[in-house]
Amino acid sequence: MKGLVLAGGYGTGLRPLTHTGPKQLIPIANKPNILYCIEDLRDAGITDIGIILGNMMPEKVQEFLGDGYKFGVKLTYIVQGQPKGIAHAVNCSKEFMGDDSFIVYLGDNLLKNGIKAIPAKMVDEMADCVISLMPVKEPQRYGIAELSEDGKKVLRTVEKPKEPKSDLAVIGIYAFNSSFFEIYPKLKPSWRDEMEVTDAISLLIDSGFKIVPHRVEGWWKDTGRPEDILEANHLILDGIESSNEGVVEGGCSVLGRVRIGKGAIISESSVIRGPAVIGEDCRIGPNAYVGPYTAVGDRSQVISAEVEDSIVMEDAVINIERKIVRSLIGRHSRIISSSGLLPKGERLIVGENTTLYL
Ligand code: TTP
Repeated sequence: MKGLVLAGGYGTGLRPLTHTGPKQLIPIANKPNILYCIEDLRDAGITDIGIILGNMMPEKVQEFLGDGYKFGVKLTYIVQGQPKGIAHAVNCSKEFMGDDSFIVYLGDNLLKNGIKAIPAKMVDEMADCVISLMPVKEPQRYGIAELSEDGKKVLRTVEKPKEPKSDLAVIGIYAFNSSFFEIYPKLKPSWRDEMEVTDAISLLIDSGFKIVPHRVEGWWKDTGRPEDILEANHLILDGIESSNEGVVEGGCSVLGRVRIGKGAIISESSVIRGPAVIGEDCRIGPNAYVGPYTAVGDRSQVISAEVEDSIVMEDAVINIERKIVRSLIGRHSRIISSSGLLPKGERLIVGENTTLYL
């Protein structure tokens, strides 16, 4: 069995962060989302993995993942370019897949308990396709699956139904065999001009192929919007263990579960309250507070500031006597004090579609 991770798409929900790179590289608890997907595939025994590249700086994905060797997998890059839909992205992998069955993992999805059950399900139930399902509160907002009475077969998938017949959302992890490529030429673009994976699944059902549901245990998160990223950060940090490869100077406190990376220095009366992760070579202090559910990326600095429930990406500097909460701070950003500068007031350089709470 092979794997396919989708790293294309527009990422409009995360602008301006996605103006400078794909959303799948946004770090959650200091690890890019796409790496969680690759590790889940690897842990399910799938090491031959295709990566779909879009046109939003795809070279950054290649630069980060390389040939996959250091993550224990073998990666093949497949260019989709312009995002024409998830089913289109999957069809781009036709040559790479050959006659193998494969798991598709959307590179902005995160699962607590991985995907180990899926390959066995495909084989044991002689399925042509396995779709992962998760009960949701507002089924009208999702692609929804209707199951047979015994719950063993998928009868229909409906995109954003007005009157949902179940609360089971189809989430971004699917298994297919070559029947996908058989039916793809019959697929038509949707109203939003995309080749939809839910339509491909419906076409498989209508063509008599066997679609088996897989109910996901534990949490699932799609990290398409800032609040989802912060929530995913929460969920991952809830499970971290303490470790310290850095230096915590006298007079500082580290409370609760905190992971401190190599070369990081916590200095002069600073406090870190977990769960939190501090990356390699960070400088926390003097007089800084890093509060629960915060991830500080490698080489970043927090000076005199309080940061809580936030993601500070790599190489950022926060040097301001203020409290920052529920924030996403992009790589190489600088948040610095304007005191002593004239004219007085907030000085901002704000990109398009930005929301500031001042
Ligand atoms: P979506 O979140 O549905 O699409 P998007 O990235 O264009 O997001 P937005 O609505 O914020 O603009 O995509 C789900 C996943 O599939 C995501 O990891 C991106 C990936 N994808 C592709 O690789 N190719 C595509 O053509 C599409 C539509 C998505």
